[in-house]
Amino acid sequence: MRMFIVLLGPPGAGKGTQATFLKETLKLAHISSGDLFRENLKAQTDLGKLAQGFMDRGELVPDDVTIAMIRQRLTRPDCAQGALLDGFPRTPAQADALAAMLAETGDRVDSVPYISVPAEVLIERLSGRWTCRAAGHVYHAKYNPPKVNGVCDEDGSELYQRDDDKSETVMNRIKVYLEKTSPLIEYYRKLGLLAEVDGTQSIETVEQQILSAVKKDK
Ligand code: AP5
Repeated sequence: MRMFIVLLGPPGAGKGTQATFLKETLKLAHISSGDLFRENLKAQTDLGKLAQGFMDRGELVPDDVTIAMIRQRLTRPDCAQGALLDGFPRTPAQADALAAMLAETGDRVDSVPYISVPAEVLIERLSGRWTCRAAGHVYHAKYNPPKVNGVCDEDGSELYQRDDDKSETVMNRIKVYLEKTSPLIEYYRKLGLLAEVDGTQSIETVEQQILSAVKKDK
């Protein structure tokens, strides 16, 4: 039986940070919808060009396009044991589509760790975030600094600040999250899958709490 975990939480909650550790421990593919859009943007594909305007404004890319992208990603061989979904689903329609596509192969969402972090902390986290160009490893100038400024510890590539981490875009991303994505908290709570974790704790403590929640749901 494959395992599918949905990491839920606002922008900057630490979904990508946690996914980096969890994918090694749980031996699952890490699927970040934001990273997939950014890869398409870099390659200037039609999908990337379409997504760019939405991402620059901090809005959601339309559901049909996003769902088709994830459906295709889930067919790759690295999903043989399942996947950690980071940033998808982000609307109830996406959550319904995910349940339907997993049901086609006899799978389902097993657990939904929800990393909760208040808005004022999110703003500080996103303004101090640095991301590696080669593989998306994530750092924070104050909370999780690289050993050498501007250089990724893992692969030596350059660190950069994301365009959508500008303060006005961040404010809109949080607003869009509250309007469109936060209903998923109740959606998954009603299904008995939600495990809330206080995301203001240290990165290591959050990881341990997510791991125990996931193992309990197994
Ligand atoms: P996406 O790339 O998914 O961005 P996001 O959800 O806004 O999440 P982030 O990547 O900003 O934050 P995170 O939770 O991963 O935090 P991180 O680990 O980096 O989406 C970007 C855009 O793509 C969207 O706006 C939308 O346009 C589009 N999109 C994507 N998916 C879509 C979908 N499904 N539907 C439609 N559109 C979609 O951590 C943040 C910082 O905090 C880092 O610096 C980190 O070092 C630090 N940190 C992490 N944990 C801690 C801790 N415990 N203590 C202290 N610091 C910490």
